[in-house]
Amino acid sequence: KELKYIDDLFEREDLEDEKLLELIEAKDQVVLEHLYSKALEKKILHYDKSIYMRGLLEFTNICKQNCKYCGLRRDNMNVDRYRLTEDQIMDCCREGYRLGYRTFVLQGGEDSHYSDDRLVKIITNIRSSFPEAAITLSIGEKSYESYERYFQAGADRFLLRHETADEKLYNSLHPGGSYKNRVRCLKDLKKIGYQIGAGFITGLPGQTSTHLVKDLRFLKELDPHMIGIGPFIPHSETPLKNFNGGTVELTLKMVALTRLMIPKALLPSTTALGTIDSQGREKAIKAGANVVMPNLSPTDVREKYEIYENKICTGDEAAHCRQCIEKRINSTGSYVDMGRGDYVDWNASS
Ligand code: 5AD
Ligand code: SF4
Ligand code: FES
Repeated sequence: KELKYIDDLFEREDLEDEKLLELIEAKDQVVLEHLYSKALEKKILHYDKSIYMRGLLEFTNICKQNCKYCGLRRDNMNVDRYRLTEDQIMDCCREGYRLGYRTFVLQGGEDSHYSDDRLVKIITNIRSSFPEAAITLSIGEKSYESYERYFQAGADRFLLRHETADEKLYNSLHPGGSYKNRVRCLKDLKKIGYQIGAGFITGLPGQTSTHLVKDLRFLKELDPHMIGIGPFIPHSETPLKNFNGGTVELTLKMVALTRLMIPKALLPSTTALGTIDSQGREKAIKAGANVVMPNLSPTDVREKYEIYENKICTGDEAAHCRQCIEKRINSTGSYVDMGRGDYVDWNASS
């Protein structure tokens, strides 16, 4: 019966909620293997066997938000906080460019030191130094006007996970935040003309399969260009330290279902998945993911960007990760694509 649901989902790119729920709860290894292989088949239809590379720059670990799951939350006093200077950021981009990266992801906490003027200056500088590279921002919730200024300055893409599409669960995990504003941000970003990235965490405390169906529904409706999915990993300096983390299996099921429901989305094989399972990233690629985001941050700040503990690659140079990840990708039967890796219909639709 579940095998039939999967084939149906493959054909129609949609499925009734009750059937999605059953697939989310599936345990049978035959069913899971079929789900992953159909998701891989769908990925190959739109993106061939290429895996796109993004160079990640974690430029500040200072954050005014207090997300209950995150090690960088404002109330965690045991974090060695840092900011990269504009020169350090440019140096990382140059190193990334030299290694072949053509997408730079500027990720950081919500740090008001980086005012709109400062951000515009940084974006303008990267844009003029690397005209053919894509600039992705991942800097949280801002006003329409701010998002528009970054776009005008040359930013192309913006990552802002919705985290969970259940409003109650969202609000309970984000003191001072609101689900409505999160969604407002995503819609503003899309309207301005960014390629947008949404996404969610699997295995959050209090999250049920019904919530995960909501995530798929929300994503189908929003139709973002990118969707990041990773397991919750408890951090000892947060209020959620005693909860269980998300599992590899649940995360892979959600990656595969997302590939089948929103077939053209760019789906990263996340570092969080690589952290809970040494083969996690390879497994995600075989279940329909097609993006990896190796770290370009200077090695001396890497372990300070501790959203969760035991994060992989914190001791490794960018050049080392570049080689390491290529071997891993090749081992799955896919290959590295160092191009910008835009959304498949991007030029047709823009
Ligand atoms: N476990 C897993 N993912 C986390 N994130 C933050 N904290 C954790 C954690 N403890 C994710 C959020 C955020 C992204 C950058 O990292 O989804 O959007
Ligand atoms: Fe800040 Fe992002 Fe961590 Fe939330 S998840 S506390 S916004 S760094
Ligand atoms: Fe960083 Fe393997 S990808 S060490």
